[in-house]
Amino acid sequence: MIEKLDELFKKFKKELDTVASNADALNLKAQYLGKKGPISNILRSLKDATASERKVVGASANELKVSIQDLINDKINSIEMDLMNKKLESQRIDISDRQSIRANSMLYSGGFHPINLVQNEIEDIFLSMGFEVLDGPHIEDEYHNFEALNIPADHPARDMQDTFWFEPPDPEASNRHLLRCHTSTIQVRGMKDRKPPFRFIAPGKVFRCERTDASHESAFHQLEGMLVGENISVANLIYFMKTLLSEIFKKEVQVRLRPGFFPFVEPGFELDIQCLICKGKGCSVCKKVGWVELLPCGMVHPNVLKAGGIDTSKYNGFAFGLGLDRLVMMRYGIDDIRLIHSGDLRFISQFKSY
Ligand code: DAH
Repeated sequence: MIEKLDELFKKFKKELDTVASNADALNLKAQYLGKKGPISNILRSLKDATASERKVVGASANELKVSIQDLINDKINSIEMDLMNKKLESQRIDISDRQSIRANSMLYSGGFHPINLVQNEIEDIFLSMGFEVLDGPHIEDEYHNFEALNIPADHPARDMQDTFWFEPPDPEASNRHLLRCHTSTIQVRGMKDRKPPFRFIAPGKVFRCERTDASHESAFHQLEGMLVGENISVANLIYFMKTLLSEIFKKEVQVRLRPGFFPFVEPGFELDIQCLICKGKGCSVCKKVGWVELLPCGMVHPNVLKAGGIDTSKYNGFAFGLGLDRLVMMRYGIDDIRLIHSGDLRFISQFKSY
C-alpha cells in the first residue's frame, strides 16, 4: 500500500510538471483528491486491512493528501505570479519615451488644446530666432487698444472692430476699459519696457462683439509679433513670415501678399495662404474665395513707435498679427472655428500631444 502511495505521488508530480493553467491545476487536484480518486480508493480498501496497517497507511495517505494540496496551491500561485509578471512586462512604461507612454498608458492622460500645441510650436520657432515671448492683459484701456496704435477717437478704424466695452464708472471718463480686440495692444507695452533693437511675440486671446459662423468667433486667438531695429525693411518682414509658415506647415503652402490697411502700419499688407481645407476650390472657411487671411503685417507706423518711446530718426520695424485659430484650422483641417472653444472632449482629445 505504502509503495502504491509513493508511486501515486511520483505520478502526480510528473503530471503537475505539465500543468500550465489554473484550470489544469484544479482538474489535477480533483482527479487525485476527489471522492472517486486513487487516494480515496486506497483509504476505502483499508476496511479489510489490519488495524496497524490501517493506522500506518491511513496516516501516509493523509500526509499525501496534504502534500498534493500544498503543491497544487504552490502551482496556482506560481502560475498567477507568471501571468502578473508577463502583464507587467507587456505594460512596462519607459517614462523617458513618449511612444512608450502613449502605447501603454492605461490612465486617461490629458493633452494640450490644439491652440496651445500650435502656439507652443510657434513660440519655439520664434525663440530660436531670438524673439522674446510676452503676455498682456485681456482687460485693456482705450489708450493701448486704439490711441497708442494710431487709431484716434474719431478714426473710422475704430468701427472696424466691434468692441466689448466695460460700463465706465464715469460716462465722461477718457481711457475707458474694454476687452482687447487684438494683441497689438502688447506692441505698446513691449516697446515701453525695452530699448531697441528688440524683437518679441505676444500670443493671446482677443474678443470681438460679432456674430459667429464657421470662420468667426467672439473670442479667438492672435499672435502678435514686433521687431524694431535699424534699417529694417519689407524684405526682412517677408523673410520672417516665410520662415514661420514653412516651419509650421512643414510643406510648401501657396501665399499671396496684398496691400492691407491698418492704421498702425505703413505700408500694410495682408498675407493670405491658399485654403488648405478645400485646396483653393472654395469652402465655408475661406468664404468660397480659396484664400484665407492669415498674417496681416506691415512696417510699424512712426506714430506707434513714438508712442512706445522709440527714436524714429534712428529706428524702424515691422509687426504682424497672426490669426492663430485659422492657422490651427488649416493645419488640422478643422472646418468650424466654433469647435475650438466648444470644450467638447470628442474634439479636443484628438490632439493629444503624447
Ligand atoms: N491687429 C490687427 C487685427 O486684429 C492685426 C494686425 C495687422 C496686427 C497688421 C499687426 C499688423 O501687427 O502689422 O486685425
